[in-house]
Amino acid sequence: MLDALDPDRGRPANVMETLNLCLSFGSKPILSSIDMQFTRGTVTALIGPTGSGKSTFLRSLNRMNDKVSGFRREGDATLEGRSIWAPGIDLLDLRRRVGMLFQRPNPFPMSIRDNVVAGVRAHRIAKGKQLDVVAEQRLREVGLWDAVKDRLNDSPFRLSGGQQQLLCLARALAVGPDVLLLDEPTSSLDPISTEYVEAMLAELVPALTLIVVTHNLGQARRVSHQTMFFYEGRLVERGPTDDLFERPKEAQTERYVTGRFG
Ligand SMILES: Nc1ncnc2c1ncn2[C@@H]1O[C@H](COP(=O)(O)OP(=O)(O)O)[C@@H](O)[C@H]1O
Ligand SMILES: [Mg+2]
Repeated sequence: MLDALDPDRGRPANVMETLNLCLSFGSKPILSSIDMQFTRGTVTALIGPTGSGKSTFLRSLNRMNDKVSGFRREGDATLEGRSIWAPGIDLLDLRRRVGMLFQRPNPFPMSIRDNVVAGVRAHRIAKGKQLDVVAEQRLREVGLWDAVKDRLNDSPFRLSGGQQQLLCLARALAVGPDVLLLDEPTSSLDPISTEYVEAMLAELVPALTLIVVTHNLGQARRVSHQTMFFYEGRLVERGPTDDLFERPKEAQTERYVTGRFG
């Protein structure tokens, strides 16, 4: 077990936590009473059949559901011990610290270079010539530099799907997040790109904390430290990934991880 405090910095060991978090759309409850801790520098996998509430839960962690009509929540989620719904929380700053990568790559309609530094510009983290330095550094970090260095001013839409996803990852990393939320980040990619993106993600910890929705159970086992299994709007089981896959406590978990439904 980790100590309650990170000995290096005196910060809470859990970068994020949910406390009795309940989510619903209109009168339809989606998830209830979720108490969960996300330890700094670890990877958490969210697994479960389609419609079980994984995306809804994930998107709540940087308040992406707030504007969805009918969305309601009770309970709380914290970042570094502070409620993400506290008065005075700056949404832009929250989303800088808790970044997101979606299932389909979503480059902006601007050049490859401008994509990488879009958030850096918006947050005034760097400007002018520094932006070129940031763009190169982040493209190198995701292994895309050699492929794009001669076409930084071109549109990103001619890149392959895997390259576009890496570009979106570079853009997310450029603003220096603490936590990255990933919603099936490789499900639209071919196996080679998937393997590459997976390897990238493994290198991002322990500097970052990752929370990843995946339908790929092999991927959950390979990349995560802890796993949450959602089924029909319930968090059925959560625990260290090896335990959840090898010694599940619940019959539903066992059926799912052995591929008998879902
Ligand atoms: N914007 C929305 N309005 C109403 N219901 C929604 C909305 N988004 C998702 N839901 C419902 O919430 C439930 C969980 O969906 P979701 O979180 O997307 O599941 P998963 O990601 O596990 O497939 C589903 O029943 C879905 O229909
Ligand atoms: Mg989903």
